[in-house]
Amino acid sequence: MNSDKPFTIVIFGASGDLTARKLMPALYNNFQKKRLPANVRIVGFARRDWGTDQFRDHLRSGIQAHGTTFEDGVWQDLAEMLHYFQGDLDRAESYRELQTYLERLEGEQANRLYYLATAPDFYGPVCDHLAAAGMTAERAGHRRIIIEKPFGRDLGSAKALNRQVHAAFAEHQVFRIDHYLGKETAQNILFLRFANTLFEPVWNRRYVSNVQITVAEQVDVGRRGGYYDNAGVLRDMFQNHLLQLLALMTMEPPASLDADAIRNEKVKVLGTVRPIALSDTVRGQYDGYREAAGVAPNSRTPTYAALKLFIDNWRWKGIPFYLRSGKAMPAKSSAIIVEFQPPPDVIFNLSGRQAFTPNFLSVCIQPDEGIQLRFETKVPDTVAESRSVNMSHSYKEAFPDIVLPDAYERLLLDALKGDAALFARNDGIENAWRLIDPVISGWENAPSAPRLETYSRESWGPASADELLARGGHAWRMGCCGLPCS
Ligand code: BG6
Repeated sequence: MNSDKPFTIVIFGASGDLTARKLMPALYNNFQKKRLPANVRIVGFARRDWGTDQFRDHLRSGIQAHGTTFEDGVWQDLAEMLHYFQGDLDRAESYRELQTYLERLEGEQANRLYYLATAPDFYGPVCDHLAAAGMTAERAGHRRIIIEKPFGRDLGSAKALNRQVHAAFAEHQVFRIDHYLGKETAQNILFLRFANTLFEPVWNRRYVSNVQITVAEQVDVGRRGGYYDNAGVLRDMFQNHLLQLLALMTMEPPASLDADAIRNEKVKVLGTVRPIALSDTVRGQYDGYREAAGVAPNSRTPTYAALKLFIDNWRWKGIPFYLRSGKAMPAKSSAIIVEFQPPPDVIFNLSGRQAFTPNFLSVCIQPDEGIQLRFETKVPDTVAESRSVNMSHSYKEAFPDIVLPDAYERLLLDALKGDAALFARNDGIENAWRLIDPVISGWENAPSAPRLETYSRESWGPASADELLARGGHAWRMGCCGLPCS
């Protein structure tokens, strides 16, 4: 059995930020929890003139600075498994040398997981080089590859990259990572919907009035201006994270938890999203963005976007889905709000209100993880006065002894096991670009594009984003996710 063989994880771009900030803390936690396969080795590949000791020191500092826990004894054991290989991503020779080095290190047949933690320009070339060096065929064990986002910068480049990846690896070997899918609360969406009988019957156009997905970030672009100014919020957050959340919320029930059963449904639902009208989009840039390092002084890159979209199928036809995300906002808050239709008639005292607050379900992705149901109740000692209250599930209260794992912890383990359910498939990536691409090019070229608005730091974005919802008789909700319910 291949799964009994030793496992080698090879990280390309091992001296970079991602390895120190995310991958090593996640590997450390998995190691501490004894979840890594027996006989695992981790080999860092990078250009820096380091030896294994320097590499280990670098990783130890990364875990200490960014991890959730650190024990010297655990580290000592893990450090034994870490190796460094100096090579050049551009040089075919480096891969042939790496192959020889790995074979010597492994000493027997072994499974391998390659992790592309490099700049995106290297994704295609590294695949080419691995194939040319005979490192992708699965004769001696599994050969899997994890590819980071961004996967392409538009539909054309994503397709080209998929072709290049597929020339080296079969689809079952490829794991395109979207860390939002590894978040506990995102994984819980399928449980909420399909492990309960209560929600699914009302999860459709007959009962839902609108759905809102907000991924608000308090941070600004910080030191990532060089990357971000070329990407913008639609490429950075919507094409991947927000559309993945949308797919989880709206897909049909899969027949099983098998990776392709889940991904077939996600691909199907994203394929039925109607092309987004430019008039249903808002774009903004926070005040001061152009002064950030690496950002062009006259940059027109949006740091905020709001989109309204429709899913043209029997379940969702006519129901608006509002998606928004931005940087430099007042709080970090990722939440999905399902707002239900109002009751058909009001027989109670509204106490001066125009209408009841509609029932809404808040799926609180982060930071106050949980699920909250807002509903009306009678105010005690009144005749017929009503008020909105909460039915609440909080992870902290329900699972006080469990520290929520970082998304990378789960995703790395799944890739080692060969379970791709929480990874994007080639057709899913392409469907997402098919939706986002025309908006990006419309914003850049179409005379009818909405103007780029400046919004103040610590605001919830341009006022037009409120108007976008008001046109449909709706208003943005924060849900009941840590901030006051609204
Ligand atoms: C990344 C984006 O994919 O997600 C970043 O590139 C963003 O710009 C980050 O800050 C947000 O992730 P999280 O887990 O902090 O919500």
